[in-house]
Amino acid sequence: MCGIIGVVGSTSTLDILLEGLARLEYRGYDSAGVALVRQGETWRARTANGTESVQALVRACAQAPTGVTTGIGHTRWATHGAPEVMNAHPHLDCSGRIAIIHNGIIENHLALKEDLLARGHTFTSVTDSEVLAHQIEELRAAGNDLINAVRLSLASVRGAFSLAVVDALEPNTIVAARRVSPLIVATTPGATYLASDIPAIFDRATSFYGVDDDQVVQLTPDGFHAVDLEGTSVQLTPLTVNFDLETAQKDGHDDFMAKEIAEQPQALRATLMDRRRGDGSFTFDEMHVSDEELKEVRRVVLVAAGTSYHAALVAKYAIEKWARLSVDVEISSEYRYRDPVIEIGTLVIGVSQSGETIDTIQACREAKLRGARVIGICNIVDASLARESDAVLYTRAGLEVSVASTKAFVAQVAVLELLALHLAQLRGTMDSAVIDDRFTELTEVADHVATVLSRSERVSLVANELRDTRDFFYLGRNVGFPTALEGALKLKELTYLHAEGYAAGELKHGPLALIEPGVVVVAVVTDPNLHEKILSNLAEVKARGASVVAIAADGDEIIDAIADYVLRVPATNPLMAPIVDIVPLQQFAYAMARGLGRNVDRPRNLAKTVTVE
Ligand code: M6R
Repeated sequence: MCGIIGVVGSTSTLDILLEGLARLEYRGYDSAGVALVRQGETWRARTANGTESVQALVRACAQAPTGVTTGIGHTRWATHGAPEVMNAHPHLDCSGRIAIIHNGIIENHLALKEDLLARGHTFTSVTDSEVLAHQIEELRAAGNDLINAVRLSLASVRGAFSLAVVDALEPNTIVAARRVSPLIVATTPGATYLASDIPAIFDRATSFYGVDDDQVVQLTPDGFHAVDLEGTSVQLTPLTVNFDLETAQKDGHDDFMAKEIAEQPQALRATLMDRRRGDGSFTFDEMHVSDEELKEVRRVVLVAAGTSYHAALVAKYAIEKWARLSVDVEISSEYRYRDPVIEIGTLVIGVSQSGETIDTIQACREAKLRGARVIGICNIVDASLARESDAVLYTRAGLEVSVASTKAFVAQVAVLELLALHLAQLRGTMDSAVIDDRFTELTEVADHVATVLSRSERVSLVANELRDTRDFFYLGRNVGFPTALEGALKLKELTYLHAEGYAAGELKHGPLALIEPGVVVVAVVTDPNLHEKILSNLAEVKARGASVVAIAADGDEIIDAIADYVLRVPATNPLMAPIVDIVPLQQFAYAMARGLGRNVDRPRNLAKTVTVE
């Protein structure tokens, strides 16, 4: 993953880099570094202090030269090479003059390195990225200016990159390039910026542009000039930026996750606002797939990763039930390499909070190549997924910073269910009065979530009592199953405890062997249609000594006799219940993590946006 940032032309370059890196930590926090250049001198600082890397870098930069107006910065999520200072970016060429930062993976780096070593280059890291510094060094020595050296060096590179390069012999220039990994450029009078993500610089610049694959950009204080790999001038795509400083800050909460959990009612309301016209039809953001085309859809394939995959699983139940369409949900990293079948009438929906998850983007690209119409669901306006899809539905959840996704999940389920209603309306599979009822229920879910949030004290009490537990099984049926998967994911990523999600009916086919005293089973029992069935499953785990935490609807008294702990939620339409039921599970994971002293915003080994395969 990794976050990258660059500035040229500002007298506050170092401050902008350091603040931007702090904002980019959600992309990786194994190490951090900056390079500043002025005529004839490249100054570099790097730290590898885990989640404290940027703070350590701020201290290291107390020694930085002052008045430097050109610099690049990097926060790393290690792929090749351990998270140590030697592998932290920026990497330098042999002369120490050229510095490079890179996000992505250079797949043929071993072959390139062998050639460079044979030609006498010295390597000081074990990263894949360092080869780029030495290749550019050779091309500069051959007389190319920096932009051409970078451009020519990329001809031999396989893999993914967004990168930025500075050279002390061209001190008022940064050259950046992109293939697959995200890269944006931004301008303001007198200074030009680059970053892997908008949050790093959204309040610095006035105009923002997306860099496309195989484009190389030269940034100077007066603006930028972009070319393709042949050296022909190209235009960058202007981007819309809709962040504000308030959403980028913790706003009085202890951490971003607490803030983002609390923001869920607002995320839902914003996502569902103004989605229906007076005649009852639905409106979407950038829907370049016509109603006529949607009527011809015969099959839906949802591709996504992690939490977004769980939201997609919920959507399967809604689209199948309401629109009577066959739906497959695919883990995006598996879909692309499986030679997928795309028949006429296949609609592919890519679901991604960031809109930059490489597995999901590549899955959608593959589907498009094979002729599918692609709808992207994402939370970041003009993210790569949004730009590459035929249509975009935005979850208007606001900036999500915490690595553990919360408000994006509920907004994704809401917007996908909205799409399910739209498909049902177009296909005539539901009466309009029923569509009205479902839509009204969907808009009311935000209030139910607010009710759950007001009950957080009870969740903290239960988490406190279960703090010594090491094994958790999460169970659910129907949409309670993806809710269980998501609840388990939250617990494991935040606490590092063992947690597995299962379809409750599947337990007796193997996992029941693991149930014994000391194990905690967390069960979603809010669906009245499946209540008896899941209670039977709970009786089976109780009989084998497990303790039970139940997520149960208000008024369900039967559950009190079976569960050891009950966390109450307002009764909701069963297909919409995941939006409500997930909230106590998020709160539970959060409380457990805090109790165990974990860093909830930055769990170990993870990153917010996963831009490597
Ligand atoms: O940005 P995306 O929604 O595409 O991200 C997908 C996953 O990486 C993400 O949901 C991940 O699983 C979260 N850390 C889960 O909390």
